[in-house]
Amino acid sequence: MSHADDHAGTRRDFLYYATGAAGLVVTGAAVWPLVNQMNPSADVQALASIDVDVSGVEPGTQLTVKWLGKPVFIRRRTPEEIEEARGVELSELPDPGAENANLEDGADASDANRALAPFEGEEGAEGEWLVMIGVCTHLGCVPLGDAGDFGGWFCPCHGSHYDTAGRIRRGPAPTNLPVPVAQFTDPTTIKLG
Ligand code: FES
Repeated sequence: MSHADDHAGTRRDFLYYATGAAGLVVTGAAVWPLVNQMNPSADVQALASIDVDVSGVEPGTQLTVKWLGKPVFIRRRTPEEIEEARGVELSELPDPGAENANLEDGADASDANRALAPFEGEEGAEGEWLVMIGVCTHLGCVPLGDAGDFGGWFCPCHGSHYDTAGRIRRGPAPTNLPVPVAQFTDPTTIKLG
């Protein structure tokens, strides 16, 4: 290889890398508007929290509302459902975490850490209300209520069984159904978000 060829080769390499670098810059510039578009717009932010009237929900039934594009299960549990959930040892749970956005990271999956606190000063069965995102943590199907081997929810897509506190007990789902940010704002209204 002559000196001239060697130089040409170096020059080609240089051009190649320079083109590559320019490509990266262009890619970066093209991605940015997409990322920007993914930020929630004002009308989506306005719906980031909603109030749900739960005055008509009887013990042993659940209301499903759509919030931020997802189903949210609001269940009013019977004393039996609560008792069953509270009788489970934490060591029996595949996911020992509360998965509750209202609590600190690291909170355990005890039933008390899964249930919604009642309205302040309100009488009512302890742990009566359970609020969860109704999306199976395996691959995103919507589980069926009052179903499965643990009396809670069952996801028929691949056979995940959740108990009466929405905790995964058997099947491929890796984690408990998540509890979203929620609170009672009066005795019969739950605010999501
Ligand atoms: S999506 Fe629920 S078990 Fe697979």
